[in-house]
This record gives sequence, structure tokens and C-alpha cells, in this order.
Amino acid sequence: MIIIKNKLALQKMAIAGQKLAKIVSLLPEQIKEGVTTLELDQWVVQHLKNAQLISCTKGYLGYRHSTCISVNEEVVHGVPCKEKILKNGDLVKVDICASYKGYCADMARCFFVGGVHSPEAQKLVEVAQRALDVGIAQARVGNRLGDISAAIQHEVEKNGFGVVRDFAGHGIGKKMHEEPELLNYGESGKGPVLRAGMTLAIEPMITQGGYEVCIMQDGWTVRTEDKKLAAHVEDTIAITQDGPQILTRL
Ligand code: MF3
Ligand code: CO
Repeated sequence: MIIIKNKLALQKMAIAGQKLAKIVSLLPEQIKEGVTTLELDQWVVQHLKNAQLISCTKGYLGYRHSTCISVNEEVVHGVPCKEKILKNGDLVKVDICASYKGYCADMARCFFVGGVHSPEAQKLVEVAQRALDVGIAQARVGNRLGDISAAIQHEVEKNGFGVVRDFAGHGIGKKMHEEPELLNYGESGKGPVLRAGMTLAIEPMITQGGYEVCIMQDGWTVRTEDKKLAAHVEDTIAITQDGPQILTRL
């Protein structure tokens, strides 16, 4: 059953989203050559604490960190690690889900270490961001869930990139993962009708090459099968009578 949030729940989710977005806005200064992904995670841990946010991923199915940090061919669920040292040109995806007074917000962004990158990598990130935006634009009362999925898929594929099939966006609220599952591919006009008070984490995961992915030795980190680059961005949104409200943007 998809949970319809009342005004109070939406307010708490909005606060969670704004606090989280503020932290993410400070990340570019931290993401530089020589920094390990574990150090980045520890920086986030401190900032979540200062903002009275509680990590939703720490302790989730045995996951031990407050961020997922995925580099280059890693798509999502990268485990922060002291051996993983960032170098100039790396494409870093940071994903954080945290709650405020029991309500969650989930957010991911892409960053380039040292501001250096190939035009192809830049395009991949831009298309991921655009796919997220066109998906969000479909999150309107009376539309169907498949309208979001189809818009994302269309934007990605028309630019020649791949849509990861094995992972998806999701409903969000008191729990990080609620119904419905929100695929990043599908058909418009299909799926449940969208209503005011639904809250979704929309998160396109896209690839430069094939969309096939595999899970690495650590049991978590998802990488592309062909080791080509992947991008992932995510926002938490609320569907309102006046259109989508993006909770994780300042
Ligand atoms: N924040 C992720 C999402 O967007 C979930 C990470 S699951 C974890 O759904 F356990 F690996 F952290
Ligand atoms: Co998510």
C-alpha cells in the first residue's frame, strides 16, 4: 500500500530534505585528490550529527556506513573504505539517506575530483541530472507512476546511454524504502495513479556502455559489468496539488 503523508509528515520530510541538501552543498570542498572515501563518510557522519539527522543506512541489512560513495564504474552502494583514495578526474557519486524526527530524505549527487573530466563523462552526468528532472516533472497528481519511469528512460536512451535495470527508486517516508518501487524504465500510462501526499525518491542510475551491473567482493558495491562509467543522482520529492515539490534542493 502506498502511504499518503499528512501535512505534519510532509513538513518533517521537508526539514530532513533541506538539512541534507545543505550538507551535500558543502561536499565539493571535501572531494579532492588524496581524500579517502572513508574520510568523506566520516565528514558526513559529523555533519549529520550536527544537523540532528540520523542515518537510515547505518545498520540497514548490516550496512555499516552513513553514505554510499561510488567511484567511476561503481554505480551505487559503494562502501566507504580507507584504501579508496580519490584522484583527479574521478567521477564520485555520494548517496545519503537520513531522517529528522522519524522522517527520511534520500539524496545523491555526482562530483568530479579536481574539476577535471572528459566531455563524455560530463555529458553522462548532465544526462543523469536531466533524466532526474524530466522524471520529477511527471510526478503530478493524476499521472501514473509509469509516466515518471518512461520519461527517465527516454531522456537517457535518446542520449545513447544505458538505464540500469537491477536497481530502482522507491517510495520514502518513515522508512527509507517504502512502496512503490519506481523503475527507471517503463511505459507511460501504466502503474498506480499518483496522488497528493505521495513521497518518492527518484534516482536514475545510468551507464556509458551496457546497463548490466554486478556486485563486488564486499557484497554491496554495484559496478558496471563492462567497467565503463556510471552516473547516479537522486532527489526526494512530494507530490502536491501544485505539482512536485523537491524536498532535497535548497
Ligand atoms: N540511499 C540508497 C537509496 O537510494 C540506499 C542505500 S542502501 C545501503 O536507496 F544499505 F546500501 F546503504
Ligand atoms: Co534511494
